[in-house]
Amino acid sequence: MRIGSLTLPSNLFLSPLAGYTNLPFRIVVREIGGVGLCTTDLVNARSLLEKNKNAFKLIETRPADAPLAVQLFGSVPEEMRDAAAKLESLRFASVDINMGCPVRKVCNAGGGSAMMTELAQTASLVRGMVTAVKIPVTAKMRLGWDDDNLTAPDLARALEDAGIAAIFIHGRTRQQGFGGTVNLAGIRAVVQAVKNIPVIGNGDVITPQAAKKMLDETGCAGVSIGRGAFYNPWIFRHTLEYLQSFRRGELHESQNSQTPDKVGGSCNSPLRENALPPEPTFAERVRVMCRHLDLMIEVFGEEPGCRMFRKVAPWYAKRFGPCHEFNKRVVQVSTRAGFHEVLENYTRWRQQFLDATGELQPRFRPPPLVASFMREPASTTREQIPVPKGPVEVW
Ligand SMILES: Cc1cc2nc3c(=O)[nH]c(=O)nc-3n(C[C@H](O)[C@H](O)[C@H](O)COP(=O)(O)O)c2cc1C
Repeated sequence: MRIGSLTLPSNLFLSPLAGYTNLPFRIVVREIGGVGLCTTDLVNARSLLEKNKNAFKLIETRPADAPLAVQLFGSVPEEMRDAAAKLESLRFASVDINMGCPVRKVCNAGGGSAMMTELAQTASLVRGMVTAVKIPVTAKMRLGWDDDNLTAPDLARALEDAGIAAIFIHGRTRQQGFGGTVNLAGIRAVVQAVKNIPVIGNGDVITPQAAKKMLDETGCAGVSIGRGAFYNPWIFRHTLEYLQSFRRGELHESQNSQTPDKVGGSCNSPLRENALPPEPTFAERVRVMCRHLDLMIEVFGEEPGCRMFRKVAPWYAKRFGPCHEFNKRVVQVSTRAGFHEVLENYTRWRQQFLDATGELQPRFRPPPLVASFMREPASTTREQIPVPKGPVEVW
């Protein structure tokens, strides 16, 4: 997969989640494997130019965290241009522009999702950035402000003309927040609007099957995953393996089949069903969670790292089975030792839900995850993936 001059190891992307997609989490995801490019939380272009300490903490990285894009927000063309040049001089792989943030303060200043409503102005800002740097400049947007203003296809086309290297598109409008179903047809309209650049689909991808459906039905070149990675940092590796098994399957079928119409298309062959990697075990989830905490402590210090981890650990616990005993106590930890004590007590308490082989008894297993755009219309599964608490309520 290529974005401008950048060659990526896969077409799977970690979406920015302000407050969550920091260096420790990115390292966790990369160590598991499968991700092609990660992006930082959004960073204020002006703060970066003013050498603000917090802005520099947001772009903290290390060699194991490459390739990395930094997401900028701002609406002053000169600041966005100079911040992009600064990031290039710091050797980041690419710069992403936030065109989806709905926070009033950002929008009133013409940044975030307000950029989707001012096509000419936004294209001119992008042109200024693109001419200032050699690294790719990408844009992340929603389908539009609301259903009556689905500007993403027009904006994507205008940005391609201005030199943007790729478009990340969350298949919802700003007005929709995180409600309703991700609109695959809306993503497809953006794919069809551009001539040559890759469009990367985003929204509610929480399983490998959902990633495949988004790729198949929209024609997008890649998939970007946010909350799904928090549920399940293995999602990139599993999705990559799943997608590769289809490619192998198609190759296999085309080599063995005399009839070209048998190639691709069907999802029913045994190979394809078996290609779904198994869910990580409890022990593996615990191992990765502990690694995540160690990295939080390394990067932020023991007390701040543990405090920040209070909102992270419950995401791992969502797949532990019964977990209220864990969640109740983990939100109080402020040391590594305290965390391990909570974990040991919980692991003992959890044994009551296991069978003789040490597996969760079926009735205590968490239900399978189903993306919004893969649910049966009359499905009784829960309506939405939870939106983690963060500095903003709706993105
Ligand atoms: C807590 C939170 C923080 C977010 N922060 C950002 C951000 O900094 N920049 C951005 O472009 N999008 C941000 N988003 C939007 C996500 O990148 C993504 O587009 C959205 O969550 C849909 O994808 P998902 O269903 O895979 O999570 C954020 C979303 C959430 C829930």
